[in-house]
Amino acid sequence: MINIAIDGPSGAGKSSLAKQLAQELGYLYVDTGAMYRAIGLYAVRRGADPKNGEQVEPLLPEIQLDIRLVEGTQHIYLNGEDVSTDIRAEKIGMAASGVSAIPAVRQFLLDTQRDLARANNVLMDGRDIGTVILPHAQVKIFLTASDTARAQRRYKELVEKGQTPDYEQVLADIRQRDYQDSHRAVAPLRQAEDAVLVDTSHLNLEESLEALKAVIREKVGQA
Ligand code: DC
Repeated sequence: MINIAIDGPSGAGKSSLAKQLAQELGYLYVDTGAMYRAIGLYAVRRGADPKNGEQVEPLLPEIQLDIRLVEGTQHIYLNGEDVSTDIRAEKIGMAASGVSAIPAVRQFLLDTQRDLARANNVLMDGRDIGTVILPHAQVKIFLTASDTARAQRRYKELVEKGQTPDYEQVLADIRQRDYQDSHRAVAPLRQAEDAVLVDTSHLNLEESLEALKAVIREKVGQA
């Protein structure tokens, strides 16, 4: 099976790019952030503090996650409920970042992620795919962009959704999430030694896609 790992900070464009690439390659797209978000959502719904391991860990046995393809797009089910939309809230992104620092949560998701990669050609995106989950992936990409470029994109997305975001707040949230994700003790966000760095600060979506395809072509001759 061919495994492509794409890691990077939030807002670098990982999921839109990975989704499109996976479709073109005919690979299964696995959005691991969605799994952490679903656990973050469950913690919030149960009134637990997402950063508190003692409160979150006992909830894990109550959680059943399923990833299903619905008309070509990945949907995530939390105990049978499709939570694909609910997990996209800003608050749940922050909760996901909180629960993701808890070792038991990472352990809980590790086997699910590795099993998917064993059984399918996958394009998996996250924070620790190239470093921890799939250290033998044939292609590893570290996709990043400056925090201001990422904040501007996020700001635009929120405006397009009809919201009235505050740019400084969006930038502060991105910086906080970067800090949390790269300073946790377990599986922090970092570039794998054998990952190719792609910086999209000055690239649009099409140019970014081309840059990723060039890396994949070089490594596995496809794309
Ligand atoms: O990519 P995302 O914004 O949907 O991810 C949400 C949070 O989940 C992110 O802040 C960190 C965490 N995460 C992680 O720790 N490891 C992954 N492989 C994917 C996401």
